Amino acid sequence: MEKTFAIIKPDAVAAGYSGKIIDRIEKEGFKIVAMKKIWMTKKMAEGFYAVHKDKPFFNDLTTFMSSGPSIVMILEKENAIADWRKLMGATNPANAEEGTLRKEFGKNIDNNAVHGSDAPETAAQETRYFFADIEMV
Ligand code: PPS
Repeated sequence: MEKTFAIIKPDAVAAGYSGKIIDRIEKEGFKIVAMKKIWMTKKMAEGFYAVHKDKPFFNDLTTFMSSGPSIVMILEKENAIADWRKLMGATNPANAEEGTLRKEFGKNIDNNAVHGSDAPETAAQETRYFFADIEMV
């Protein structure tokens, strides 16, 4: 079994899509190992996305991610990292395939509803950024 780190981003939480997204996550066979609602500070968002600090969208991205509550989760299943990214769809909802979460719930590249780790190392690192051991059941 593999674990991945996922976020339901502030746009999707504000729009009231959390329940629908969580329902979809469970229907697709992911076990929710940990989950909590948080409101990231700008500093937390900057730390989380530090790898993108030189990108032109860094300020917009971290401002957006600290603009309201989001839901952070650890998801488990076989091939969790690849399968979650497949379920999310392309970064830009305009390019996302039918049936993906970003197609259904994302508005645009700035407001794309969900996040998922891209590799085992980043999944472990991102998990540690938001969760303590006692929160993983
Ligand atoms: S890159 O350049 O390939 O590393 O970037 P990418 O993996 O596509 O995206 C990294 C995260 O940045 C977000 N992103 C943006 N935010 C705001 N504006 C623009 N133009 C933009 N482009 C990319 C994108 O949603 C990714 O966030 P996460 O949370 O990882 O999905």
